[in-house]
Amino acid sequence: MSQSCRFVILISGRGSNMEAIVDALSGLQNAKVVAVMSNEPEAAGLAWAQEKGIATRTVCHRDYTSRESFDKALAKSIDGFNPDYVLLAGFMRILTPGFANQFEGRLINIHPSLLPAFPGLHTHRQALAFGVQWHGCTVHFVTHKLDHGPVIAQGIVPVHDGDTEAELARRVLAMEHQVYGQVACWLADGRVQQHVDGTVTVAGIHSRAFGPQLL
Ligand code: GRF
Repeated sequence: MSQSCRFVILISGRGSNMEAIVDALSGLQNAKVVAVMSNEPEAAGLAWAQEKGIATRTVCHRDYTSRESFDKALAKSIDGFNPDYVLLAGFMRILTPGFANQFEGRLINIHPSLLPAFPGLHTHRQALAFGVQWHGCTVHFVTHKLDHGPVIAQGIVPVHDGDTEAELARRVLAMEHQVYGQVACWLADGRVQQHVDGTVTVAGIHSRAFGPQLL
């Protein structure tokens, strides 16, 4: 991309993934986080973004009577910043198909599991209950289907015997930061390509798997 690649990041809470993305992109000349938005006025990540001099906006879902009207207001606010990409980073709202359509190919999410395993909430609890030995996170393009869509990258972590949900969440979160930060840089460099068959490639990158070097 010749001009700076513009990112809007959507959060609902702590915003540690947002921090990881902002930090990763700060090393690039060709990328700018133009706004951080939240559906929760009290989201802790908003204060962090403000301190960094990033514009923040709140569009509170409780101020709207339907998902459609909330999504329309959110989309309008996002459009005001003219982003190339919208990154969902712990954004805890289900978005309507209309919203997904509007931002198709530019809307990216991180999910704390190795999709297609464990979509939805409480992924670490689900992983422990199932007894899987590997767990992790997925960064993917957003489609109409919840926690589904072309995979850009995945990060794996081991599950240890006796792990608590909180311990596993911490291990996965550290991996989320690594994967999302790297994907943001690939996007900024214009290297991520989504193909008609639903697959993704990243120019010059041979593996989009993150994790312990086992093989
Ligand atoms: C992350 O685990 C994300 O994958 C999930 O919610 C958590 C948000 O954490 N959807 P943070 O707000 O980025 O710290």
